[in-house]
Amino acid sequence: MAHTMVIFGASGDLTSRKLIPALYRLFQRGRLPADTRVVGFSRSDYSDEQWREQLTATTTKYVGKDFDAQSWKEFSKFIHYCSGDIQTPADFEKLAHRLEQLEGDQTIDRVYYVATMPQLYEMAAQHLGQAGLADDSSGARRIVIEKPFGTDLKTARHLNQAIGKVFREDQVYRIDHYLGKETVQNIMVLRYGNSIFEPLWNRNYIDHVQITVAEEVVVGRRGDYYDGSGVLRDMFQNHIFQLMMVTAMEPPVKFNSDSVRDEKVKVLKAVRPMKGADFADCGVRGQYEGYRKEVGVAPDSPTETFAALKLHIDNWRWQGVPFYLRSGKALSCRTTQIVIEFKEPPHLLFGGGKHTAPQANRLVIQIQPAEGIQIHFQSKVPDADMSMRQSELDFRFDSGGTSLPDSYQRLLQDVLMGDASLFARSDEVESAWAIIDPIIAAWRSPAAPAMNSYPIESWGPEASTHWMQDSERNWFDVCPVIS
Ligand code: BG6
Repeated sequence: MAHTMVIFGASGDLTSRKLIPALYRLFQRGRLPADTRVVGFSRSDYSDEQWREQLTATTTKYVGKDFDAQSWKEFSKFIHYCSGDIQTPADFEKLAHRLEQLEGDQTIDRVYYVATMPQLYEMAAQHLGQAGLADDSSGARRIVIEKPFGTDLKTARHLNQAIGKVFREDQVYRIDHYLGKETVQNIMVLRYGNSIFEPLWNRNYIDHVQITVAEEVVVGRRGDYYDGSGVLRDMFQNHIFQLMMVTAMEPPVKFNSDSVRDEKVKVLKAVRPMKGADFADCGVRGQYEGYRKEVGVAPDSPTETFAALKLHIDNWRWQGVPFYLRSGKALSCRTTQIVIEFKEPPHLLFGGGKHTAPQANRLVIQIQPAEGIQIHFQSKVPDADMSMRQSELDFRFDSGGTSLPDSYQRLLQDVLMGDASLFARSDEVESAWAIIDPIIAAWRSPAAPAMNSYPIESWGPEASTHWMQDSERNWFDVCPVIS
């Protein structure tokens, strides 16, 4: 089956930085379905040749040492361009005509990748429908929508409904690039490909779960967008919730898109709704020092660049096991990790007195960088009666010299093959907003917990450390060692 991927927003940053390099790497590795062509669509007035030239420069830059001129030459023959404006229905007629010319009589599966400003998502779907481009009677028609999918529950619902007028749910692929990360998929392999973890994966053995997405970067040139969004919309509603769902879900009956997503969405539905005073105690807000002076940021901005939240999942498996989630910009290091902290042994034979108390057993899933998994456990200090020390089993994901592909490679391959398992479903997106919206509203109200300032290159506000200590727990503030 031949494929066409139409990219709306072809002259944008995402296309040159992520999409074309990912498609090219799939081609190099023999993973792009045979007979796949790419058609760029944007307002800039390029010929096929001019767009290819531009992409040659950017792909050389972004692919780096894996770029080779010969394979690029072969791949770029399949790249075409059609100039047009998403806001102009007639330009979609022009696109339809161009696609007919390129595809001839072949039966084609088509993917429409909407990599534009979010304000244009709805219009792109609508105009595709009007031009007959969503009709899938002669080959699949799929639409890929980039993040952010709405800015709250109301706008997400509206967008789902608007897209749903043109495309069925099984044609819609909502990207969350965290699901394209190998180490996120590996959580499912860890849990369901082994028999030693799942028996412990519940309230009987686990004290709590920590999910941290720490970033070293500041908002930089994204001040305009970020100030209207903040960390809860930018990182929690999507990426962190995806990590939480994959960690907390029940085993799906099959590894297919509906079974996996059915289980994931149940996690969100089980998150305990908050009310009244809960909002003040459920977390810590922070803003890094100097944030209000960033370009595009209001001088009195109330936007969080750091947040820590405690959520409870009210189901049989997780009752009484808090999930601590945190993310922030301008932190000590870049690290995304899931820490499963186990309960203390029921009866301590060692430790106390002259021996040090045992530290908690932990399973640390290092999503990025230094991708891997560590198990922390106690072992005997040699030749020192029954003293214990913390020891570690360390698995590195890239051992064996395999470099990890960029998330977009896997996600683009899946969308071309029609596998939506690693994409967010409409109910997932809406359930996530239903959790985040009330927190954002409460944190913008007079009853909001105080905004804490924190220094750049720290682990966030001190209040976050104290808040954890109040429940006799500690954040796992460890930067990964990159070997
Ligand atoms: C994006 C956010 O979705 O994810 C950014 O908008 C954030 O603010 C980025 O920096 C993080 O992605 P990654 O893959 O670098 O962890």
